[in-house]
Amino acid sequence: MKVLIVGGTGLISSGIVKALSARGADLTVFNRGRTDDRLGAGVRHLAGDRNDFPAFEAAIAASGTWDVVIDMICFRPDQAESDLRAFAGRCGQFIFCSTVCTYGNTQTVVPTLETTPPAPHSAYGRDKLACEQLFLRAHAEKKMPVTIFRPSHTYGPGGNVINNLGWEPTFVDRLRRGRPVIVSGDGHGLWQSAYSEDVGVGFAGAAGNPACFGEVYNVVADEVVTWDDYTRRTAAAIGAPPPRLVHLPTDLLLAIDRPRYAALEEIFRFHGVYSSAKLKRVVPAYRTATPFEEGVRRTVAWMDQHGKVARVEDDALEDRLIAAWERFAGEAVKAFSPKP
Ligand SMILES: NC(=O)c1ccc[n+]([C@@H]2O[C@H](COP(=O)([O-])OP(=O)(O)OC[C@H]3O[C@@H](n4cnc5c(N)ncnc54)[C@H](OP(=O)(O)O)[C@@H]3O)[C@@H](O)[C@H]2O)c1
Repeated sequence: MKVLIVGGTGLISSGIVKALSARGADLTVFNRGRTDDRLGAGVRHLAGDRNDFPAFEAAIAASGTWDVVIDMICFRPDQAESDLRAFAGRCGQFIFCSTVCTYGNTQTVVPTLETTPPAPHSAYGRDKLACEQLFLRAHAEKKMPVTIFRPSHTYGPGGNVINNLGWEPTFVDRLRRGRPVIVSGDGHGLWQSAYSEDVGVGFAGAAGNPACFGEVYNVVADEVVTWDDYTRRTAAAIGAPPPRLVHLPTDLLLAIDRPRYAALEEIFRFHGVYSSAKLKRVVPAYRTATPFEEGVRRTVAWMDQHGKVARVEDDALEDRLIAAWERFAGEAVKAFSPKP
């Protein structure tokens, strides 16, 4: 099976490369050659920028035909249109990496299934949905067979460990040093984090599988955790002391610094619970094979090696917020508690 991955050295795409290599696929990646290259021997490299549409499309036209193309880095309709010009008639299956942000995270029925009507509330989710619609129309018009994957949060080496407020670079150092950690709301929000190599098995299992043509699949972790548990388990995984969790109202955090907490506003404040049951019916090997604690250890080892762990001193806001909140809460309790 001859496979081209647009991307290929990123967080999720490295997992796909590993899983496809194990299946004996003949692999080529297309990227600019800037990202740390963790590809194994035998993976061919086409160099280029996918956003230079004429050069990208000419390079693909010159590259021949592909059994499977997987685009990991298409975010906007103009990129999807370029894919259609490049690949229609040149591939046996086109797999588009979308996102669960197409759903909009506000469902009241969980877990979210692929049949749930999309209602994205972020520009990212809206653009991904517009791309999906372009690709599915091309599929319906028989221009190329299309499969859509919607990952939820995915972590692993090559990426970082998120926290409930977003991608705070001091999070790991804060845990290691036993500093208090802010969790928004009451910490009971529900979350799924999938390990990149596990997600790679899902993509790889659909590659070349006609049962997946014209279909959309969630690809998420089996396990659902609360944000409090997520934070405690991340600390335990890296040998840090049990963290003292400080719950702050989400609306207060957004009022203080909305741009900083954009990911909280768009994603993390909502339950993120999705089902991969549909994918498991066609790719029975898909499951959470990497325990969360092991995945976190590998990710943090990669972050340490690549200087991605910022020191608590680099960002004073969290400690200042905790101090102010605890002062306010102390005064409120004193003022409003019933007098003995
Ligand atoms: N991680 C998550 O939690 C999550 C959740 C849902 C959906 N997703 C989706 O997952 C995808 C990201 O996958 P990933 O993690 O494997 O990718 P990634 O980490 O974003 O890696 C990017 C890859 O694309 C290449 N690249 C970047 N810009 C390029 C350009 N202009 N031209 C050519 N190559 C380029 C990079 O290599 P060079 O830098 O060398 O070019 C690298 O190989 C996105 O579609 C995202 O929406 C991710």
